[in-house]
Amino acid sequence: MIIAIDGPAGAGKGTIAKGIARHYNLAHLETGLLYRALAFKVFENKLNLDDRDQIAALASTISLDDLKNKHLRSEEIGNLASKVASLSEVRQALLDFQRNFADTPLSDFNGAILDGRDIGTLVCPQADIKFYITAELEVRAQRRLKELQDRGIKSIYTAVIQNMMDRDLRDESRQQAPLKIANDAYVIDTSNLSPDDALKQAITVIEQHLKTQIR
Ligand code: DC
Repeated sequence: MIIAIDGPAGAGKGTIAKGIARHYNLAHLETGLLYRALAFKVFENKLNLDDRDQIAALASTISLDDLKNKHLRSEEIGNLASKVASLSEVRQALLDFQRNFADTPLSDFNGAILDGRDIGTLVCPQADIKFYITAELEVRAQRRLKELQDRGIKSIYTAVIQNMMDRDLRDESRQQAPLKIANDAYVIDTSNLSPDDALKQAITVIEQHLKTQIR
Protein backbone atom coordinates (compact mmCIF):
# COMPACT_ATOMS: atom_id res chain seq x y z
CA MET A 1 0.00 0.00 0.00
CA ILE A 2 1.29 3.45 -0.91
CA ILE A 3 -0.34 6.52 0.63
CA ALA A 4 0.37 10.09 -0.53
CA ILE A 5 -0.30 13.10 1.69
CA ASP A 6 0.08 16.69 0.56
CA GLY A 7 -0.78 20.07 1.97
CA PRO A 8 0.60 23.41 3.13
CA ALA A 9 2.73 23.97 6.25
CA GLY A 10 0.93 23.63 9.56
CA ALA A 11 -2.13 21.81 8.16
CA GLY A 12 -1.39 18.72 10.26
CA LYS A 13 -0.27 16.38 7.48
CA GLY A 14 2.77 15.19 9.41
CA THR A 15 0.70 14.22 12.44
CA ILE A 16 -1.84 12.41 10.30
CA ALA A 17 0.91 10.66 8.31
CA LYS A 18 2.59 9.47 11.52
CA GLY A 19 -0.73 8.17 12.87
CA ILE A 20 -1.56 6.30 9.65
CA ALA A 21 1.98 4.88 9.49
CA ARG A 22 1.62 3.53 13.03
CA HIS A 23 -1.89 2.17 12.44
CA TYR A 24 -1.04 0.28 9.22
CA ASN A 25 2.67 -0.36 9.87
CA LEU A 26 3.85 1.70 6.91
CA ALA A 27 7.34 3.17 6.39
CA HIS A 28 6.96 6.95 6.67
CA LEU A 29 8.97 9.55 4.76
CA GLU A 30 8.44 13.21 5.66
CA THR A 31 9.71 14.59 2.35
CA GLY A 32 9.92 18.18 3.64
CA LEU A 33 12.90 16.97 5.69
CA LEU A 34 14.79 16.14 2.47
CA TYR A 35 14.46 19.77 1.34
CA ARG A 36 15.28 20.96 4.85
CA ALA A 37 18.38 18.72 5.04
CA LEU A 38 19.53 20.13 1.71
CA ALA A 39 18.83 23.69 2.89
CA PHE A 40 20.96 23.00 5.97
CA LYS A 41 23.86 21.87 3.77
CA VAL A 42 23.44 24.91 1.52
CA PHE A 43 23.62 27.12 4.62
CA GLU A 44 26.58 25.20 6.07
CA ASN A 45 28.51 25.46 2.79
CA LYS A 46 27.63 29.18 2.49
CA LEU A 47 26.18 28.67 -0.99
CA ASN A 48 23.62 30.99 -2.52
CA LEU A 49 20.71 30.09 -4.76
CA ASP A 50 22.69 30.87 -7.92
CA ASP A 51 25.13 28.04 -7.18
CA ARG A 52 22.71 25.63 -8.84
CA ASP A 53 25.24 22.98 -9.85
CA GLN A 54 26.74 22.76 -6.38
CA ILE A 55 23.29 22.64 -4.78
CA ALA A 56 22.19 19.89 -7.18
CA ALA A 57 25.37 17.94 -6.38
CA LEU A 58 24.58 18.25 -2.66
CA ALA A 59 20.99 17.13 -3.27
CA SER A 60 22.20 13.84 -4.70
CA THR A 61 24.17 13.14 -1.50
CA ILE A 62 21.16 13.41 0.86
CA SER A 63 20.60 10.21 2.85
CA LEU A 64 18.12 9.08 5.52
CA ASP A 65 20.82 9.81 8.13
CA ASP A 66 20.78 13.51 7.15
CA LEU A 67 17.12 13.68 8.19
CA LYS A 68 18.04 13.01 11.84
CA ASN A 69 19.76 16.42 12.12
CA LYS A 70 18.14 18.27 15.07
CA HIS A 71 18.48 21.70 13.45
CA LEU A 72 16.16 21.09 10.50
CA ARG A 73 12.90 22.34 12.05
CA SER A 74 13.72 26.02 12.44
CA GLU A 75 11.80 28.70 10.52
CA GLU A 76 15.01 29.83 8.79
CA ILE A 77 15.75 26.36 7.44
CA GLY A 78 12.06 25.97 6.43
CA ASN A 79 12.27 29.17 4.40
CA LEU A 80 15.53 28.22 2.75
CA ALA A 81 14.07 24.75 2.04
CA SER A 82 11.14 26.37 0.23
CA LYS A 83 13.63 28.39 -1.87
CA VAL A 84 15.91 25.48 -2.83
CA ALA A 85 12.77 23.45 -3.57
CA SER A 86 12.02 25.71 -6.53
CA LEU A 87 15.22 24.62 -8.35
CA SER A 88 14.44 22.01 -11.02
CA GLU A 89 17.81 20.22 -10.57
CA VAL A 90 17.04 19.77 -6.88
CA ARG A 91 13.56 18.38 -7.48
CA GLN A 92 14.92 15.90 -10.02
CA ALA A 93 17.61 14.64 -7.63
CA LEU A 94 15.18 14.25 -4.73
CA LEU A 95 12.48 12.69 -6.93
CA ASP A 96 14.60 9.56 -7.40
CA PHE A 97 15.18 9.32 -3.64
CA GLN A 98 11.46 9.57 -2.89
CA ARG A 99 10.33 7.14 -5.59
CA ASN A 100 12.92 4.67 -4.45
CA PHE A 101 11.59 4.92 -0.89
CA ALA A 102 8.01 4.36 -2.06
CA ASP A 103 8.81 1.52 -4.46
CA THR A 104 11.16 -0.45 -2.25
CA PRO A 105 9.27 -1.02 0.99
CA LEU A 106 11.47 -2.46 3.71
CA SER A 107 10.51 -6.05 4.51
CA ASP A 108 9.17 -5.20 7.99
CA PHE A 109 6.51 -2.82 6.61
CA ASN A 110 3.21 -3.22 4.74
CA GLY A 111 3.99 -0.32 2.39
CA ALA A 112 4.95 3.34 2.53
CA ILE A 113 3.41 6.70 3.31
CA LEU A 114 5.01 9.91 2.06
CA ASP A 115 3.95 13.41 3.00
CA GLY A 116 4.93 16.64 1.25
CA ARG A 117 3.75 19.03 -1.45
CA ASP A 118 3.83 17.03 -4.70
CA ILE A 119 3.49 13.41 -3.60
CA GLY A 120 0.05 12.70 -5.10
CA THR A 121 0.63 14.87 -8.16
CA LEU A 122 4.18 13.89 -9.12
CA VAL A 123 6.18 11.60 -6.84
CA CYS A 124 3.60 8.83 -6.48
CA PRO A 125 0.78 9.50 -8.97
CA GLN A 126 -0.07 5.77 -8.70
CA ALA A 127 -0.58 5.91 -4.90
CA ASP A 128 -3.44 3.74 -3.62
CA ILE A 129 -4.87 6.62 -1.60
CA LYS A 130 -4.16 10.34 -1.74
CA PHE A 131 -5.01 12.94 0.87
CA TYR A 132 -4.80 16.70 0.70
CA ILE A 133 -4.70 18.10 4.24
CA THR A 134 -5.46 21.77 4.65
CA ALA A 135 -6.55 24.34 7.26
CA GLU A 136 -7.23 28.06 7.38
CA LEU A 137 -4.11 30.22 7.31
CA GLU A 138 -4.76 31.75 10.76
CA VAL A 139 -5.20 28.32 12.34
CA ARG A 140 -2.00 27.04 10.74
CA ALA A 141 -0.09 30.09 11.91
CA GLN A 142 -1.39 29.70 15.49
CA ARG A 143 -0.31 26.07 15.50
CA ARG A 144 3.15 26.96 14.22
CA LEU A 145 3.46 29.73 16.83
CA LYS A 146 2.60 27.28 19.62
CA GLU A 147 5.03 24.70 18.26
CA LEU A 148 7.85 27.28 18.20
CA GLN A 149 6.99 28.53 21.70
CA ASP A 150 6.84 24.95 23.02
CA ARG A 151 10.37 24.52 21.71
CA GLY A 152 11.42 27.63 23.64
CA ILE A 153 11.81 29.77 20.49
CA LYS A 154 10.49 33.30 21.07
CA SER A 155 8.25 34.24 18.14
CA ILE A 156 5.53 36.74 17.29
CA TYR A 157 2.29 35.87 15.54
CA THR A 158 2.53 38.53 12.82
CA ALA A 159 5.99 37.30 11.79
CA VAL A 160 4.88 33.67 11.79
CA ILE A 161 1.76 34.34 9.67
CA GLN A 162 3.74 36.50 7.21
CA ASN A 163 6.36 33.80 6.90
CA MET A 164 3.68 31.20 6.28
CA MET A 165 2.00 33.35 3.58
CA ASP A 166 5.36 33.82 1.82
CA ARG A 167 6.08 30.10 1.93
CA ASP A 168 2.55 29.17 0.72
CA LEU A 169 2.89 31.58 -2.19
CA ARG A 170 6.32 30.27 -3.15
CA ASP A 171 5.26 26.60 -2.88
CA GLU A 172 2.02 27.16 -4.83
CA SER A 173 3.36 29.38 -7.59
CA ARG A 174 6.69 27.76 -8.47
CA GLN A 175 7.01 26.27 -11.95
CA GLN A 176 8.24 22.85 -10.85
CA ALA A 177 5.68 20.64 -9.10
CA PRO A 178 3.72 23.39 -7.33
CA LEU A 179 1.56 22.52 -4.34
CA LYS A 180 -1.93 21.67 -5.60
CA ILE A 181 -4.73 19.22 -4.94
CA ALA A 182 -4.44 16.01 -6.98
CA ASN A 183 -7.69 15.29 -8.89
CA ASP A 184 -8.24 12.05 -7.01
CA ALA A 185 -7.27 13.27 -3.52
CA TYR A 186 -9.53 13.20 -0.46
CA VAL A 187 -9.49 16.67 1.08
CA ILE A 188 -9.53 16.99 4.86
CA ASP A 189 -9.81 20.46 6.39
CA THR A 190 -8.39 20.24 9.92
CA SER A 191 -9.25 23.84 10.95
CA ASN A 192 -11.89 22.62 13.41
CA LEU A 193 -10.63 19.10 14.05
CA SER A 194 -8.49 17.73 16.87
CA PRO A 195 -5.46 15.69 15.73
CA ASP A 196 -7.28 12.51 16.82
CA ASP A 197 -10.42 13.37 14.86
CA ALA A 198 -8.41 14.24 11.75
CA LEU A 199 -6.62 10.89 11.97
CA LYS A 200 -9.97 9.08 12.47
CA GLN A 201 -11.34 10.70 9.30
CA ALA A 202 -8.32 9.61 7.31
CA ILE A 203 -8.51 6.05 8.66
CA THR A 204 -12.23 5.88 7.78
CA VAL A 205 -11.35 6.81 4.17
CA ILE A 206 -8.62 4.15 4.04
CA GLU A 207 -10.94 1.49 5.51
CA GLN A 208 -13.59 2.28 2.87
CA HIS A 209 -10.94 2.03 0.18
CA LEU A 210 -9.69 -1.31 1.52
CA LYS A 211 -13.27 -2.69 1.58
CA THR A 212 -13.75 -1.86 -2.11
CA GLN A 213 -10.43 -3.61 -2.85
CA ILE A 214 -11.57 -6.84 -1.14
CA ARG A 215 -14.88 -7.04 -3.06
O1 DC B 1 6.81 20.28 4.93
P1 DC B 1 7.93 21.22 5.30
O2 DC B 1 7.43 22.52 5.85
O3 DC B 1 8.96 20.59 6.19
O4 DC B 1 8.69 21.54 3.90
C1 DC B 1 9.71 22.51 3.79
C2 DC B 1 9.74 23.03 2.36
O5 DC B 1 10.16 22.00 1.48
C3 DC B 1 8.39 23.50 1.82
O6 DC B 1 8.14 24.85 2.08
C4 DC B 1 8.50 23.23 0.33
C5 DC B 1 9.50 22.11 0.24
N1 DC B 1 8.87 20.82 -0.10
C6 DC B 1 8.60 20.59 -1.43
O7 DC B 1 8.81 21.46 -2.27
N2 DC B 1 8.10 19.38 -1.83
C7 DC B 1 7.85 18.42 -0.93
N3 DC B 1 7.38 17.23 -1.34
C8 DC B 1 8.09 18.65 0.45
C9 DC B 1 8.58 19.89 0.83
